[in-house]
Formats: sequence, C-alpha cells, structure tokens
Amino acid sequence: MRSIMVLNSKGGSGKSTLSTNLASYYASQGNRVLLVDFDPQLSSLDWLAARSSGRKSITGVDASKGNYRAPRNVDYIIYDTPAAVHGNELNAYLRRAQSIIIPVLPSPIDMRAATPFIQKVLANGRVARKECRIALVANRCRENTNVYHQLDGYLKKVRKAPFISVLRETQNYNKAAERGLGIFELAPYLATRDRDQWEPIIKWLNSKRSMPANLR
Ligand SMILES: Nc1ncnc2c1ncn2[C@@H]1O[C@H](COP(=O)(O)OP(=O)(O)OP(=O)(O)O)[C@@H](O)[C@H]1O
Ligand SMILES: [Mg+2]
Repeated sequence: MRSIMVLNSKGGSGKSTLSTNLASYYASQGNRVLLVDFDPQLSSLDWLAARSSGRKSITGVDASKGNYRAPRNVDYIIYDTPAAVHGNELNAYLRRAQSIIIPVLPSPIDMRAATPFIQKVLANGRVARKECRIALVANRCRENTNVYHQLDGYLKKVRKAPFISVLRETQNYNKAAERGLGIFELAPYLATRDRDQWEPIIKWLNSKRSMPANLR
C-alpha cells in the first residue's frame, strides 16, 4: 500500500487540488483509493460528494476530528491536510505517509512563507533519515512570467527537496473539481498540457526516490 500526503502550512497553495487529482488519477488507473481529509473545511470530501457514481469509486474519510476508521485493503491512501500545521502536529503528520508533496505558489509572499516550513519538514527526524520522502511542486504558475523564473531559481535552491514539476494556472482544475473529477478524467484534448505537467509527479511517486529508504 502506498501512502501519499499533500502538505503545506500556507493556505490556498493547492493541497486539496493536488490531493483530489492524485486520488482521481490512481482510481482511474483501477486502484482502490482512500482519500483521507484532515482539514475541517473538508474540501476533498466536498469534491468527492460531487463525483458521479458512474466514475471509478474513491472512498472518503473525515479525519478532521483526529481519529478515523479506515477500510483495509486499499492500494493508495491520499491525505489532504489543513493549513497552519506546525510543531508537534506537523511531526504527527510526517509519521503517517511514505511520500509528501509540498505545493508552493509562485508569489514572493508564498515563497517566503514556504521556506521556513520546508526547513522544518527537512529537520524532522523521519525526513532526515529518509523514512519519508518529500518533493516540491510549483502550483498555479503563469509560464514565461518573471515570477515563474523567480520560482524556478528559488525551488532549485531548496536543497534536499527535489522540485519535481510546475503546474500551470488553469480553469481546468476548477472545471474538473466542480464535477468531482481530476485532470486525468477530463477529455484529453482539453487537458493534454496539464497531464504532461503531472507526468513527472506520477513518475516520482512510482519511483524508489519517493519511497522510504527501508522499503526500497
Ligand atoms: N493550478 C491551478 N490553477 C487554477 N486554480 C487552482 C490551481 N490550483 C488550485 N487552484 C484553485 O485555488 C484555490 C485554492 O486551492 P486549494 O483549495 O487546492 O488549496 P489548499 O491548499 O487546499 O487550501 P486550504 O489551505 O484552504 O485548504 C481553489 O479555488 C483551487 O481551485
Ligand atoms: Mg484544502
């Protein structure tokens, strides 16, 4: 079983968007997927509620009050997490997943806020021992703008945390989310560019680089 968490203390960076797209991708590939929502806003479960019964099913769990019951026999667990996670709470989250994706927005404010957060994640014992692996994804990027280039340089500077992809800003994410879908479930001609941008993320998650050192 693979466990993947999307984490960033900054609100609105794309945690729920990445979580739901990962759940949709793995479900569309025929996997049994559990989507665990730790955020009291329950955005991921709202997304799931909009999903039609004709689609590949995903099991959702409300974990916002702490304890939750998870079904056994799943192939992928995707964890969506709330904003403003720090200290012991952050360490508790880092114990749960094999692979952690941190979405970062390309604004100066978001980049500055992400730096100490990423440093804290890197300082966590499990992360330092490679018992859980982290990667950064730039989200909502307008390509060919100055900000995009700034972000590119910034993310490359964050050592020990690979920067694996850039997702563009597009209404495709909102269009898909309205129907409880992910980018991989939209008509390919609409979302070819976005699927291409997801490819390195899926590749990382399928590779040993995203697996805990003891499981490799
Ligand atoms: N690549 C993108 N292109 C366009 N819109 C996006 C993109 N990624 C996210 N959004 C939109 O940005 C908003 C914030 O995204 P999202 O809810 O995924 O962030 P979050 O980190 O989960 O926020 P919170 O901290 O409040 O839980 C949403 O309206 C979402 O649809
Ligand atoms: Mg969210």
